[in-house]
Amino acid sequence: MEAFKKRLTEYQTFLEKYLDETCFVYDSEPQKELFSAMRYSLLAGGKRLRPVFVFEFCRMCGGDWKAAAPFAAAVEMVHTYSLIHDDLPCMDNDDYRRGRLTNHKVYGEAMAVLAGDGLLTAAFSRLSDAPYSAETRIKAVQILSQCAGELGMVGGQVLDMESERRDCTEREILDIQSRKTSALIRAACFLGVLAGGGTGEQMEAAGEFASHLGLAFQIRDDILDKIGDAETLGKAVGVDEGKNTFLRLYGMDTCQALVRQHTEKALGALSVFPERQWMTELAGWLTDRTY
Ligand code: IPE
Ligand code: IPE
Ligand code: MG
Ligand code: MG
Ligand code: MG
Repeated sequence: MEAFKKRLTEYQTFLEKYLDETCFVYDSEPQKELFSAMRYSLLAGGKRLRPVFVFEFCRMCGGDWKAAAPFAAAVEMVHTYSLIHDDLPCMDNDDYRRGRLTNHKVYGEAMAVLAGDGLLTAAFSRLSDAPYSAETRIKAVQILSQCAGELGMVGGQVLDMESERRDCTEREILDIQSRKTSALIRAACFLGVLAGGGTGEQMEAAGEFASHLGLAFQIRDDILDKIGDAETLGKAVGVDEGKNTFLRLYGMDTCQALVRQHTEKALGALSVFPERQWMTELAGWLTDRTY
């Protein structure tokens, strides 16, 4: 447990410092309110789970994980933009995120939309500037754009929104959650393997891991919306009650079992990585996370 916490903190601290020092710090540009809004949400903490996946998959493939910082920052920027937009009044209409007021509550809706746009755009600039070959950087752009775009996270958010008006089947909920949440986790795991110079087989295994881990993660998110503590979570609870979730379809006990089952399946995919102990502990930690 000590070794697990130590590495987790090492990854998180490294990323915090990297983001703080390298993101949107300009001396003489006039659009200061925009930089402030972008940094407000990006530097608001959060678990930094997606960067952690980038770093650890890179390490599991034998790569230099610190060199993957631009890839890790890029996924975190896309994730943060998705949260800013997810919280807008026209979407989930939330007032708190990561323990502070949501971006639009502080900066207004127009600036929150633009801060999200800025983060999304900057993510691709990071990928293209990363310290890897041109081929690797193009592959990174392909991965993130496909996972974040209309067939991935954005597509999932649309299906999630539309599903509020009707009852969904299990297959439909699976599809929504795979896109809205697993897709960015998949991008993070792929980028880690790419940065670490992993094999095609390892890339495939990372995708399989992320698909199941992402489902377990979103089901746990829905459970926490019901039984979690707002202060610990840093966001309001009881806000997704009207949503089409597995929790609504199957109830608490089945969902807790589903989190464990998907985590087991995720871990089953890791056999092609000899050094999978730490990732196994991370996945275990996530099954009963409280924030
Ligand atoms: C919240 O993601 C949104 C979901 C996809 C469920 P996280 O729970 O990873 O949020 P942060 O980054 O820790 O704030
Ligand atoms: C959000 O799902 C997934 C995203 C792509 C942002 P939720 O709407 O359940 O996330 P929270 O609960 O607001 O963090
Ligand atoms: Mg939402
Ligand atoms: Mg939401
Ligand atoms: Mg939620």
